[in-house]
Formats: sequence, structure tokens, C-alpha cells
Amino acid sequence: MTVMAAEASVWRRRLAASATLAAVTLIAAAIVYAFAPVGRDFASVASVRIGGPFALTTQTGTKLSDADLKGKPFAVFFGFTHCPEVCPTTLWETSEALKALGPDAEKLKVLFISIDPERDDPEALALYLQSFDPRIVGLTGSEEEIAEVAKAYRAYWRKVPTGDGDYTIDHTASIYLMDAAGEYTGTINYDEQADVRIAKLRKLIAGAVS
Ligand code: NI
Repeated sequence: MTVMAAEASVWRRRLAASATLAAVTLIAAAIVYAFAPVGRDFASVASVRIGGPFALTTQTGTKLSDADLKGKPFAVFFGFTHCPEVCPTTLWETSEALKALGPDAEKLKVLFISIDPERDDPEALALYLQSFDPRIVGLTGSEEEIAEVAKAYRAYWRKVPTGDGDYTIDHTASIYLMDAAGEYTGTINYDEQADVRIAKLRKLIAGAVS
């Protein structure tokens, strides 16, 4: 074997090794993606902090920050007004749950944070939220503010072109339940039944009463 051939064979082995590594990494990534926390309960993911500070604009144009919510538990849902199914279903089901809670619903805040600030300005949110419980607070902000809050909540979202120059958005379908101290306590998942949903909200409200 000449020096050149030996070198070539070393490089071939290195290439093969890095190709194997790349394949293993891809498979690992695929497994992680398959079990991604979309619509799952995050409580099992220990030591991952969910939630954090934000200052966003409501559908009436006022500012709302996490500090304003101190002392009151809240439920957060990320979505967008052009959503074909998950958002309207979740907002409708949440409206029904608030109705079922009766006066206790006042002890809770429900936030709908738009991950589509490009289209969802306060006016668009206000118009959209007319179809749901008026206590649901719509929130929007700059692209950066929204990206930051979504990241803090470990919310997944991805713009998907629809081919006609338009786009839709894939996003986490769970509602995050945060206690009066702003700490994450669990989720309401998309496929959960109404009684489970209401029970979780009752528990969240009960936890706030000291
Ligand atoms: Ni949606």
C-alpha cells in the first residue's frame, strides 16, 4: 500500500465512522422527536423549568405581564386565530369549562398567546375571541417577545407553508397550568375529556386558596 493509498483508507474509515455517528444522531433525534412533549404532560420531564417572565399586549391593547398575575393561578395556551381545528376546539372547550366552574372561574386567568403575531394583532385577537368566553385574555407581541415566551414554556411551534403563498402553524396543543406563584403544575391535554379538564382547573384553583 502506498502512502497515498494508506491515507485514503484512513480517510475512508474516518468518513465511515462519521457517517455512522451521523446516522446514530439522526435516529436519536427521531426518537426524541417522536416522544416530543406535544400534547403530553411535561411533569415527567424533571428539572426542566416551564414558564417565565413575559410582557405582552392584550386584545384590548393593554399590557399584561407575569407580574400582574402573581397571586392568581393561570392557564396558558399557545395558538393562532387562523388555526383550523386545535385552537377553536380548545378555546371552545375552555369556555365550557369556565362556565362549569361557576364563580370559581373568577379565581383563574386563561391566556391565549398568539404564536402568529404577524397576523394576530390586538384587533384580530379581539375579533376572534368574541366567539369564546370573554374572560379569555388574548395576548400578542413582537416576533421576539412571542419567541421568548414560547421558549420559556417549552412550547413547540413551526410555520408550515400551505403552497398558496400562505402558511399554517403546527404548535403544542396542551394547556399549561400555572399556580399562583407562576410555577408550572401540569397540563390539560388536547384529547382530555371535559370532566378531567374541569377537575384539573378546580384543583389548580383550590391550590391557590391558602
Ligand atoms: Ni391551533
